Amino acid sequence: MLLGTQRVNEEGHLEIGGCDAVALAREFGTPLYVMDEALIRANCRAYKRAFAERYPNNEVSYAGKAFLCTAMCALLEEEGMCLDVASAGELHTALRAGFPPERLFLHGNNKSRLELEMAISAGVHRIIVDNEYELEMLIALAERAGRPVDVLFRITPGIDPHTHERIRTGQVDTKFGLEVQNGQAARVIERAVAHPFLRVRGTHFHVGSQLLDLEAHRQAIEIGVDLLAQFRDDIGYIAEEMNIGGGLGIRYLSHHEPPSISEYADMVIGTLKACLQAHNLPAPKLQQEPGRSIVGEAGTTLYTVGAVKEIPGVRTYVTVDGGLSDNPRPALYDARYEVLLANKANRPAERLVTVAGKHCETDTLFPDVTVPDPAPGDLLAVQSTGAYNYAMASNYNRFPHPAVVLVHDGQAEVIVERQTLDDLVSKDVLPRRFARPR
Ligand SMILES: Cc1ncc(COP(=O)(O)O)c(C=O)c1O
Repeated sequence: MLLGTQRVNEEGHLEIGGCDAVALAREFGTPLYVMDEALIRANCRAYKRAFAERYPNNEVSYAGKAFLCTAMCALLEEEGMCLDVASAGELHTALRAGFPPERLFLHGNNKSRLELEMAISAGVHRIIVDNEYELEMLIALAERAGRPVDVLFRITPGIDPHTHERIRTGQVDTKFGLEVQNGQAARVIERAVAHPFLRVRGTHFHVGSQLLDLEAHRQAIEIGVDLLAQFRDDIGYIAEEMNIGGGLGIRYLSHHEPPSISEYADMVIGTLKACLQAHNLPAPKLQQEPGRSIVGEAGTTLYTVGAVKEIPGVRTYVTVDGGLSDNPRPALYDARYEVLLANKANRPAERLVTVAGKHCETDTLFPDVTVPDPAPGDLLAVQSTGAYNYAMASNYNRFPHPAVVLVHDGQAEVIVERQTLDDLVSKDVLPRRFARPR
């Protein structure tokens, strides 16, 4: 499986964005996250085009939680995207990058006072209110600032998407949002609509992530529009906006066949228009928030192979110089990935091995994958690591975060520097009583 601008070059090496992966590893070290700029831009454009053609009254946000840094904000701004942020850190990154606040959406199921204050003072486009506790805090802060705020309400449509339980959010049993079925959403929104410091623009839902079929999205749109009709009929409130979150899946493995962006747009717009017509509702602005499907396939992680441990009749372990700290998804979600040896990319992948990391636990990264005969010093490339890898990295075992490079037309630029060993101790504080000359 080769993705985006990946190809195997004349030397038999993996090339991404016109850059030889072996040369990238030599120049920037490993583990290394490599992001394919052309593919990220192509995905942004595909979303914008697919929806503009079918339903011009729409806004496409990128879900920053998938992968965010200053350069990513700049790229998104150039592509005319909106951006959704879900923490003070993501919001700060966007604001420091000079991303226009009027294109920012703020999420979070337990937003802090600081996060709400930052959002109000920056004048973000929309705050997505998750619960009544947050609503009270937001009203108080908006009144104090003397600024009405534009809000959407996160609702729980009560749908169970077929995806891993930790990335499933649309079902009734979830920490996120106001429940539709027991009437909580309608009750809270009715009260909010009347408040002078709230401009209630509409509703938001996100049913889950890495969805490889469209059924959950279809059902959620139907329930979402039913709810808008209920608001109109019961309280005379006509929503101007409907945000359907993200969730479109990507290819982690060659047999994965996620719907294309245009198939997804066909279903979304077809369902939306039919439901609006059935209820005789005016068309709201459509908003959405893809994350993984913008950056996921654009990322490749490069590792250097260390020890190769063969247990005859059992398994061969190939260990690499990273692991759980740069990619926790196998441990969190049993996520599977496809790998190749970037320095032997033209050789047949005939050896069945298990790739393990170097942390102090059994951090099996990629079980039962096939590669050409592996040896210490080889360069292992892992496909589709652009989403929720760098973003979820930790310093477990005090491993520094890897660098991120953006590759494009044969050029590679660092967009996040590798943490240094001194970075790891830079926030440590030694109580005075421990002090002695060191
Ligand atoms: C509210 C919200 N919007 C958008 C997304 C992005 O989802 P995905 O990366 O699957 O497109 C998420 C993911 O968790 C989310 O929680």
